[in-house]
This record gives sequence, structure tokens and C-alpha cells, in this order.
Amino acid sequence: MLRRAGEPRDALSVSWDEPADFDRWFVCPTVTPLYYAPVYGELTRGEQLRYNHLTAIYFNELIGYFETSFAVSVLAAVGRAEAAGDDARFSAALRQFVADEQEHTRWWRQLTRLSQPSAANEIQPPLFQIPSALGTLLGKLLARPRLFPAAFWIMLVLEERSLDISRRSLRLEVGEIEPRYREVYRKHMEHEAAHVALDCQLLERYFAPRSRPLRWLNARLFRTALRKFLLPPVRGAKRVVERWIAECPQLAGRRTEILGQLEAVGSSPDYHRMMYSRTSTPIAFSLFDRFPEMHALDRVLLCYAPAVKDRDR
Ligand SMILES: [Fe+2]
Ligand SMILES: [Fe+2]
Repeated sequence: MLRRAGEPRDALSVSWDEPADFDRWFVCPTVTPLYYAPVYGELTRGEQLRYNHLTAIYFNELIGYFETSFAVSVLAAVGRAEAAGDDARFSAALRQFVADEQEHTRWWRQLTRLSQPSAANEIQPPLFQIPSALGTLLGKLLARPRLFPAAFWIMLVLEERSLDISRRSLRLEVGEIEPRYREVYRKHMEHEAAHVALDCQLLERYFAPRSRPLRWLNARLFRTALRKFLLPPVRGAKRVVERWIAECPQLAGRRTEILGQLEAVGSSPDYHRMMYSRTSTPIAFSLFDRFPEMHALDRVLLCYAPAVKDRDR
């Protein structure tokens, strides 16, 4: 990442003019929560496709939001790196990171725009919404990465997850996935692999050398963020299902049952394996092993067991 920071990047070449092909997946079905619920196998192809499209739109909004928010932490790190006379290539790589994320946010917006069926002439509210108090709190934490390096743990797991979403989606046959989505996943994966490497460097500088109480506090914060927001199919995933049922009135009578199944997905081992595991997020898991403060993540993540036993627990 440091070496590549100054190199020119080739641009994404897709046309944003035509609407999306609604007969194809927008994202690999295995990353959508309801895929892990019994009801999924009973759906028609059309119902599965529309659920898939709405979930992909939700991912576009969610990833775009975090990409913009993380830029605050990364820019704070740029300022510190420059003031401390750190390796100039490191701040150049951080600046490239911020520029990449701004570009990605434009891609997600374009994908969302062309994912609205042309018949829907009313603008739909976003599927990803963050309560304003939580958004303000997050903004304050992200602006202070020295005190709250938990921001870089969140960045690492989200970026590793976005890599896995791309990887799974690219494994589909070419004709099965919407071509613009495919191209964005391909290009995004290329950039994000470098970002994950940079996240590890940020943790090395901002988390590893800190005092044990500060690491413990941040591990606790990160665990809470995972348990409440980043792991279970809660608010946004429910909003997707609500909108999907509103668009598929034949499912209205099963609304309570489907929402109940969605909630149960949060404790499904297969869903956990897809979300956070040594196959989907291997770099984060190996870093959890390294820090004893992170070993208590086994209370939240069904697939995590510290590779090294911790005698202090
Ligand atoms: Fe990105
Ligand atoms: Fe990224």
C-alpha cells in the first residue's frame, strides 16, 4: 500500500446511463441475512431477486456511510503522522485511502440510483439510517483515534467483510450478476485489499502500543458495536424486509413470521460463519488472537475462539 500510494490508479469504466438488469442478482445471495432463514427456500425467484436488490441497495448505503465517516479518523491520523515526522509514504498512503473512499462513495450512489425500478417515480427514503444521537457520538469517537482506536478495528472488520462480499459476488457466473455491480465489486476489491493492509498498520500505531486499560476500554467498545450493530440483522435489515414485503403484497400475511425468522438468523451458526469467521475475516481474527483484550469477543462471535489460551481470563 505504501509503495503503491503514489502510483496512478486506473479508473472504473462502466456506463451509468442504462437502468440495472433486474433479472440478475445485485449481490451474492449468500451474504443476505434472509438466505439463512427457513422461509428463503419457499420464495419464488422473483421474490428472492427483489429481496436481493433491496439488500444490495442497503449495503451500498451502509458501506458509503462508513467510508465517508472513516475518512475523519484517517485524516486525523494523517495530521499526526505528518506532525510526528512519520514515514512520508505512510501519510501519502492515508491520503490515497481517503481519495479512494470518496470515489467509492460515488460508485455506491450511482449503483443505488440505477437500482430503482423506472416504474417507481417517488424517491424512496434510505434503507440505512443511523439515529442522529448515535451518528453524533460516532463522529466524536472517529475524530479522536488516539483515544478511540476502536475506530480502526471497526474499519478493519467492515473492510474485510466488504472484501468477502465482493469475493463471493465475483464467484457467481458472469451472466448471473448485474454487470455494473460486478465491475464495481471487482474494482472495490482491488482497492480494499490495500486498505485492509493499511488498517493493520493503523492498529499497529494506534492500538498496539497503548496502555492496557485503554486497549481494554476500546476492546469493550468494539465488542459492543459488534453485538449491537455490526453483527445481528437488526434495524437496517428489518427495514429492508419491511420494504420488500410492502412491494410483495402476497407476503403480507407472513410478515410477523418472516421478521421472527430474520431475528433468529442472528444466532444461526451459518450466518455467523458468513459474517465473521476465520474464512470470511481471517486477518481480523488473527489480530484478535494477538491481543488478550480482544479474546472476550468469543462471547459475541460464535465462530471466534482465541487461538492462544489467555491465562488472565
Ligand atoms: Fe471502499
Ligand atoms: Fe476501504
